[in-house]
Amino acid sequence: MSQFQLNGLTVQVDVDDDTPLLWAIRDNVGLKGTKFGCGIGLCGACTVHLNGRAIRSCITPVGAVAGQTVTTIEGLDPAGQHPLQVAWVAAQAPQCGYCQPGQIMQAATLLEDYPNPTDAEINAVMAGSLCRCMAYARIRKAIKLAAAQMQGEPQA
Ligand code: FES
Ligand code: FES
Repeated sequence: MSQFQLNGLTVQVDVDDDTPLLWAIRDNVGLKGTKFGCGIGLCGACTVHLNGRAIRSCITPVGAVAGQTVTTIEGLDPAGQHPLQVAWVAAQAPQCGYCQPGQIMQAATLLEDYPNPTDAEINAVMAGSLCRCMAYARIRKAIKLAAAQMQGEPQA
């Protein structure tokens, strides 16, 4: 049994401590926005925030987050209107969409560290978030739109 904060609510999951957080989120809590890609920490599809920072939930045991704060794509903004989400729509970033929740959660951490990121900074931080549809150019555009919006500039 593990208890942690998930998107502002206290949740308890009755699973072994070494169960990946990803499966606790998807199967026990029922939030399906966080995706399974590789299961070994190499693709970024399962990215969530632990205490506000991007982690790979497929390789994070649920026991390791006990008492801590986890945020998924469903909790990034209560209305789904986080500047990244708005920019993602404006830039038409997704193709199939499968990688996108993880991309957005990783991008949120990127913008904390680099509020006005260069292409090189975006590429470096987002390198572990793979997109089989090769939507990288639109993802970069969306990140820059969100960065501008968060700094109070009108979106292009
Ligand atoms: S599913 Fe977690 S990094 Fe690929
Ligand atoms: S949009 Fe299809 S995997 Fe990224």
